Amino acid sequence: MQNILILGSGGREHALADIYSKSRKIKRVFVLPGNGLTDYKNTKIKNVTSISPSDINTIISFCKKEKIDLVDVAQDEPISKGFVGLLEKNGIPSFGPTQKASQIEWDKDWARQFMEKYNLPIPTYKSFTNSRQALAYLNKLPNQTLYIKASGLAGGKGAIRAGNRQEAINAIKAMKQFGKAGRTFLIEEALLGEEFSLFAICDGKHYIITKAAQDHKTVYSGDKGLNTGGMGCVAPPLVVTKKIIKDIERKILKPFLQGMKKEGRPYTGILYLGGMLTKKGVKIIEFNARWGDPEAEVILPSFKTDYLTIVLKALEGKLDEINIRFDNKTRVSIAGCSAGYPNDYSEVKDKEIFGLDSLFSLKNISLFGAGIKRQGEKFLADGGRIFHLVAEGNTIQEVRKKAYEAMSLIFIEGNNLHYRTDIAWRDVERLIKEKT
Ligand code: AMP
Ligand code: GLY
Repeated sequence: MQNILILGSGGREHALADIYSKSRKIKRVFVLPGNGLTDYKNTKIKNVTSISPSDINTIISFCKKEKIDLVDVAQDEPISKGFVGLLEKNGIPSFGPTQKASQIEWDKDWARQFMEKYNLPIPTYKSFTNSRQALAYLNKLPNQTLYIKASGLAGGKGAIRAGNRQEAINAIKAMKQFGKAGRTFLIEEALLGEEFSLFAICDGKHYIITKAAQDHKTVYSGDKGLNTGGMGCVAPPLVVTKKIIKDIERKILKPFLQGMKKEGRPYTGILYLGGMLTKKGVKIIEFNARWGDPEAEVILPSFKTDYLTIVLKALEGKLDEINIRFDNKTRVSIAGCSAGYPNDYSEVKDKEIFGLDSLFSLKNISLFGAGIKRQGEKFLADGGRIFHLVAEGNTIQEVRKKAYEAMSLIFIEGNNLHYRTDIAWRDVERLIKEKT
């Protein structure tokens, strides 16, 4: 029997805690720090709130004291700080890419150079450390939509869409606001098409593709407003066909793993491909070195193979020895957010959330906590994205209906709940068009 520690506090970490806790091989699942729902009504899961998630030395002591057999480093920050290597050095097995391998996420400039070197399909781009040179480059480009992106980690806010030259100039000037993360920045051609996320479990040499998902990034329905961490997902999205996945394997996954090995950075962990289906085929928006959030909440529940077994095989470099099975269900998630997110939502902090308990008895509905805390019997808002509600079933229309019916049962004191009302609209529209 094993003890697992998961580092993080969002819906993704809750989904991971859930799937690990289902394993008969696991005795306890600790989540550091977790949230108000991770350990709710699940006696196998325990939150660890007494240790700071960035305090690696205390985390190592905790692992030794509690006899932790495996740490799942699930979030970009601790991965980028090299927690995987530090834990391993102390004899604590951990799952996630090393600091060097995860540079593919935390250094977009390095990542684009790597992709270029190994001929992976990417948009045209150029990196800068100097805004004058960037502005001079901009002047030579036709007036077009561009993305200006901080090279470092910027809490998911580092990419700015610029619809014309003036917006691009403003975006270049805005890179300073990201501090160290924005010191190097990229100017990229805007890719046109449909966006998707695809996930592969990697062991340095082999990979297993799990499922694709389609997130909805902007805060308002109709794909309007600012970009967020993700407002809701559908998995699997109809647009990512078997043929597209085959193409991705040949043109992206295989050369990626071989390239990383060649560079002395073999990639073990979850690889997240943020892709765009363009008229000229799939192009890479970015790679991330972890599960997506909320993608994890709609993909992890579909695993029929024991997740711990898969992770241990990955750590041994033997993913070629197992087959992973998934169910055939469709899942839709909706993020329940504080009104005001992703701007100022401080007034919603500590407001009471009503109706959650009525969801726990609903069939085919799950709830994953994020910015939420428990106080006695009450649930209180404690962040921008508060929870992710997930519905599952057979058809997209049925699942979507269930998700929104369940969502209608929830309120936040002072009418402070915000969510998008159009999650999965692309697939619904596709199906309607197919029928007519
Ligand atoms: P990133 O910070 O790289 O995750 O980018 C955030 C979001 O910006 C992505 O999910 C895309 O929606 C969008 N994006 C970033 N780069 C591009 C690009 N070159 N073309 C089109 N969309 C992009
Ligand atoms: N859903 C976007 C992300 O996890 O980065």
